[in-house]
Formats: sequence, structure tokens, C-alpha cells
Amino acid sequence: MPDSVTPDPSVPDRLASGSAGPDPAASDRVDPDLVDAARIAAAHDRIRPYVVRTPLLELGDSGVILKAENLQPSGAFKLRGASNSMLNLDVDQRRRGVVAHSSGNHAIAVAHVGRSLGIRTVVVMPSDAPQAKIDRTRDLGAVVELVAPDSSARTARARELAESDGLVAVEPYDSELVLAATATISTEILEDLPAAQTDPPVIYVPVSGGGLAGGVALGAKLRDPRVRVVGVEPELAADALASRQAGRRVAFSGEQMRRTLADGLRVQQVGAVTWPYLQTYLDDIVTVTEQEMLDAMRRIALEAWLVAEPSGAVSVAAALAGRGRVASASQGTSTGQGTSAARGTSRGRVGSGGQRVSASQRAVAIVTGGNVDPGLFADVLAGRLHG
Ligand SMILES: Cc1ncc(COP(=O)(O)O)c(C=O)c1O
Repeated sequence: MPDSVTPDPSVPDRLASGSAGPDPAASDRVDPDLVDAARIAAAHDRIRPYVVRTPLLELGDSGVILKAENLQPSGAFKLRGASNSMLNLDVDQRRRGVVAHSSGNHAIAVAHVGRSLGIRTVVVMPSDAPQAKIDRTRDLGAVVELVAPDSSARTARARELAESDGLVAVEPYDSELVLAATATISTEILEDLPAAQTDPPVIYVPVSGGGLAGGVALGAKLRDPRVRVVGVEPELAADALASRQAGRRVAFSGEQMRRTLADGLRVQQVGAVTWPYLQTYLDDIVTVTEQEMLDAMRRIALEAWLVAEPSGAVSVAAALAGRGRVASASQGTSTGQGTSAARGTSRGRVGSGGQRVSASQRAVAIVTGGNVDPGLFADVLAGRLHG
């Protein structure tokens, strides 16, 4: 694997300097145009040797097409953002080592890239993370520190470690490097889906911190504004939907978030950097029940022969339910006008008012990860677990 240092020249200093997270005052001014088509293409070139161009697969005869990001070598899409961020580090930053906070999949990805590039990795994870994720991260050579389950606890601890040990922070979701990297998923979908130009799809994407959904929506809209992009959350952890309805970032408590089995979707509030991208480019946010999520996991296994974790199956659950195909009146996007929340910070760019689609528009659901504890997966397959 290549090991060249290819810094992204347009990366803002606060990211390139390795601070433990964006300065809140600065990030409130984030411009949702900072990541453009050129930066997405550059990210794609940079990460190509490290990530798999995952296939599009049919889910039985459901009509739903899966973008199988669970087939990345780290078992989740997070490898895209982690490799783009870590390949952007200069020689001195690589020598210092990195620290990350993660519910699990970013931890595995950072450890994976660290091993490939010979970079020391320290990861802060919640104590209730699936054992499979903790074990895999350690097996890849990272030092894992477990902290209280709230996402705020691990963010704070990672910041402390960056300051005390001189480690460089590798953001899980809240950075332009991550957004540019996740946007490459849309590039691949729209290049690989037959007749995507004549029959643009609706893309379903899970939302937690928003690095994935913000990038996917941006990447899709820059290529083709007719593509509809729908964010999906568990009904029990729908802080992004609440934020969209309120027109500002809303935080849920850690206790509220822990009600869902989707351990990768428990970040308490979308990021300050990702928020303007979500507001500007996502057409809709919908929710799924725990039972729908578990049923989708089972169908993905039995009809597409893929292992999906709960967080990786919510997009499929929403697609199977046909949710978000036509914008709901409450979100004000069905007329293409958009509420102030739906318009967000847009200035008449692509996708700013939401796309209206017919019921027959093809659905592509991103299966974002497959790192699941074997016992849980067995229970889901056997139909022993109910939401
Ligand atoms: C499997 C899976 N899907 C989706 C997400 C959501 O990504 P983001 O935090 O960028 O919204 C995560 C985050 O950890 C995840 O692990």
C-alpha cells in the first residue's frame, strides 16, 4: 500500500493542526460549500488503494438495492473517512500518533489504517460497545480506553488525551475530510447503478453524527440534483429529525440514545460541521422502529447473504417500508419550496428544496456496517429478538 503524504491543501488549519475537535465558535460559521466536487474527487483518489469499491446488490425481489459498505476490510464505511483523514497527516503528525473517539466502527477503521501506515493509535470507546468491536480494535493494535457510554464522555476524554499526550485527533464524523470521503459513496452509487442518469434513485442513509449522511447527500446532489437522499434514524434516537424540525441542533441525553439497539447511531447531537450539510442537502429524515431494523437485518442475511449490524440495517428498513419517498408536509419539502429548516443555509443550490419522487423511483440503501456480536446476530436470524 502506498504511504505517501498527500495533504489536502484546502483543509482548514483547525483540522490540519490536529486539534482535538473543531472550535465550536468557528464551526458555527461552517460553509456547506467548503467541500466541493474537486475535493471529493481528490479524496476518492487518495483513499482508493485502502478501500473497496463495494458492490451494489439486490435484496431478493424487494426492489431495494444495497450498497454493501459492510464489505469494507474494516467491516464498515468508516474506513473512508479514517483513511482520508490519516493520509492527510504530515510526517510529524504521523510520528506523534493519533487519538480518536468512537462508538466502534471508526475505532476499527482508525486502528486498521494505523496498522497499514505504521501510526500509533489510541481510541476512546464507550464501555457498552459491542465486544466484537472492542476486540477487533485491540486486535488491530490500537490502545483502547473505555469510558462512560455517553458520546459526550468519549469526546471529552479524546480531547484530553490529545492535549496531554500530543496526539493528533482523527474525527469520526465532524470534519470536511470525512464529508469528502463519505461523498465518494455517492460517486460510486451513481457511476455503478445502471441507467442512473435516466432514472435517478432515492438513496437511504443512516444519520448519527452526520458525517455519512452529510457527505452522501452532498456527493449525490453535486452529481445530480434529481437524486433524492433520505436520512434514517431509529425512532428511539431521532435527534437529527428533532433538530431538523427545530431548525437548530438538538441534543438528546445519553440515556435516551441508549434505548436503541443501534449502537453506532447513539451520538447525542449531530456535528457542528456536518449540520449545515445535512440542512442544505438532505431531502428528508425518517425513522424506523427497532422491530423494522431487526427484520431488515434478517432479510439482508437471508436474501442477500450479508451480515449487517443494527445501525447498518436502518436504511434498508426505511427503504423496505417506502418511507420518505415523497416529502412529508410537516417537513415542508413536498412542494419543493422547503421550510426554513429544510432550506437551511442554502442559497438556491442543487437540492436545496427537496426532490419530489414517484413511488417507482429505485431505492438504494447503504448497508453501512456489519460489525455485530455473533450472539446478537444469531438471535436475530433465529427470530428470537424482538424490538
Ligand atoms: C454502521 C454505522 N452506520 C452509520 C453510522 C453513522 O455515521 P455518522 O456518525 O457519520 O452519522 C455509524 C457511526 O458510527 C455506524 O457505525
